[in-house]
Order: sequence, then structure tokens, then C-alpha cells
Amino acid sequence: MTTTTDASGHIPVLLEQVLKSLRPNLGDVFVDCTAGRGGHAAAIAKQLGPNGTVVLIDLDRANLDYASERVEVESGIKPIAMHGSFSSVGRELEARSLRADLVLADLGFASNQMDDPLRGMSFTHDAPLDMRLNCSVGQTAAQFLERLSERDLANILFELGEEPFSRRIAAKIVESRARTPITSTTQLADLVREAYGSRARTSRMHPATRTFMALRIAVNDELGALRAFLEQLALAAIRAHEGKPTWMNLGARAAVIGFHSLEDRMVKRLFVELSQRNIFRLEGKQPMVASEAELAENPRARSAKLRTAMVGRPD
Ligand SMILES: C[S@@+](CC[C@H](N)C(=O)[O-])C[C@H]1O[C@@H](n2cnc3c(N)ncnc32)[C@H](O)[C@@H]1O
Repeated sequence: MTTTTDASGHIPVLLEQVLKSLRPNLGDVFVDCTAGRGGHAAAIAKQLGPNGTVVLIDLDRANLDYASERVEVESGIKPIAMHGSFSSVGRELEARSLRADLVLADLGFASNQMDDPLRGMSFTHDAPLDMRLNCSVGQTAAQFLERLSERDLANILFELGEEPFSRRIAAKIVESRARTPITSTTQLADLVREAYGSRARTSRMHPATRTFMALRIAVNDELGALRAFLEQLALAAIRAHEGKPTWMNLGARAAVIGFHSLEDRMVKRLFVELSQRNIFRLEGKQPMVASEAELAENPRARSAKLRTAMVGRPD
């Protein structure tokens, strides 16, 4: 098994499967929509040869810089780095007259972001409640908690976190914020624990796990960004299939790794629909998942689901 852990400990998930399904060729244009720590990107870039092109995108400037340097050192290719969301990947590539042969999106966050106390994504450190992947734009989780109605908060916890005590937690947050603003990870984790009451003792995971996940997804509008990305992927695939100019080539391959059932559902729906219209060729109906060996090394891979597709020629 190939693993390429970076200095922060992030291990690229399903790397072997990604390489096998994307099948990089010499000279390909590869777009990594979620550069992260550059694990996938460096492994793919090494197979493109000196005439390959690598485009790296990330919301997190520090990760983007790290991944760019890593790709250049390991492959000799200097990547084109784009700081921002993959939700505008199509427009960005078209503006540069680039056409992708390989597109990868490994959704969510990298280990270094979760472990960074300053980002406030985890209740394991006492930190300001921020949670933004791009720290230069948008509302922090603390601002989110200050402004949301109790009902919207409960809905977010239930829908994005599948939190069974969403209403109880939302009520607790609203009651508490009337007295003191909720600005730290510990404050929020303590409130969730209080809302759980005696059930906290029997909960398999920390009671705040689902609340933190739901808030992170909401603060970064992760599902909105994925929806926008998938729409662009679909439009480009349709145009390429019809022989019209766009930012993906005919025969281009796309791979998306989701960690949340809502993400995977969105990817699956689009991939199945495009394959029924003969625009996408899929590599099997079921998503690829991690082997026992990978799980032993990287427990985070447990929820990872990889779906891949190729833009097919008209019959
Ligand atoms: C799971 S990590 C990717 C890890 C990477 N594949 C590797 O091997 O190191 C996800 C990365 O995507 C970034 N990200 C999440 N949502 C994004 C979005 N909408 N646009 C661009 N980057 C995003 C995060 O900042 C994070 O660095």
C-alpha cells in the first residue's frame, strides 16, 4: 500500500484507488480541487512527466502553499495555485483556457486543520470558535451561533450532524447566549454535554462530536460549494460529450471522495444521472471504500467513499 503522510500527519485517503481510477498519463492536465497537504496531488503529479500541468485549489492559503511546494519538490512541476473555493473551478479554468484531463475533489478538511487549535474545529483544544477553512472571509462559528434562530440551529444540527438531541442542544445554546456570548470551543462542548445530561455517560463518542461537525459544514457552506462544483462538472461533461469547448476534455476522468452521507448522495445522484444519459462511464455502481489495511493506519478513511467517472464519447 502506498502512503504519503505529510509532516502534519495527514494521510491521503484511498490513494491507490484514486491513482487506479484516474489513470494519469504523460502530459495530462490535472486539477486538484482540494489540494490540502498535497498527498494525492504529489502522487499524481509524479506520473504526468515534465509536460504535465497541475492546478491546485484550496480555501486554505497555508495548505495551498504547502501543497504547491510539495508538488514542485516531488514532481518537478510548478503548479498553478488558485486560492479560493472549488465552487468556481469551471470559470477559473476557462478564464485561463485550461482543459482538464483529471479532476479530483477530496472533500472536507485535512488533519492539520482539525488539529490546529487556532481554527477551533475541535473540542479537544480550548480555542476561539472559528471553524472557517478560509480564515479571510465569512462568518466564524461564534458569529453563526450568535445570529441563528433556535429553529434553524436545531435543523442544522439534525440535518448536517444527524444529532438526535438537536432541539435540546439548540435550546441550551439559545438560553446560554442570552447571558454570555458563546465564543470558545470548550464553552460549546460544555453546553452540549449539559444538554445531553446523563445520556453523555452512555454516548459512544464525545457528545459534542456531531454538533461540531454540523457547525463546520454549515459555517463553510460545504454542501452549497459541492452543489456548485457538481453543477459545473455536469455542464462541462455534457459540453465535452457533445464536442463543444469547455474546461474538461472528452475522456476526462473525475474522482470525488466524500465523508458524509449527504455529500455522497449528491455525488451519486449526479453520476448515476449522467451515466444513464451515456455522458459518464462509471467504474462500478458502488463507491470504493478503504481496505482493512488502510483503516488500520488511517481511521479517518472509515467514512470515505470514492466515486469516479469518465466523460464518454457519444455512441
Ligand atoms: C481532505 S483535505 C484534502 C487532502 C488532500 N487530498 C491531500 O492528499 O493532502 C480537504 C482540503 O480541501 C479544502 N477545501 C474544503 N472545501 C473546499 C472548497 N469549497 N474549495 C476549495 N478547497 C476546499 C480544505 O481546506 C482542505 O485543505
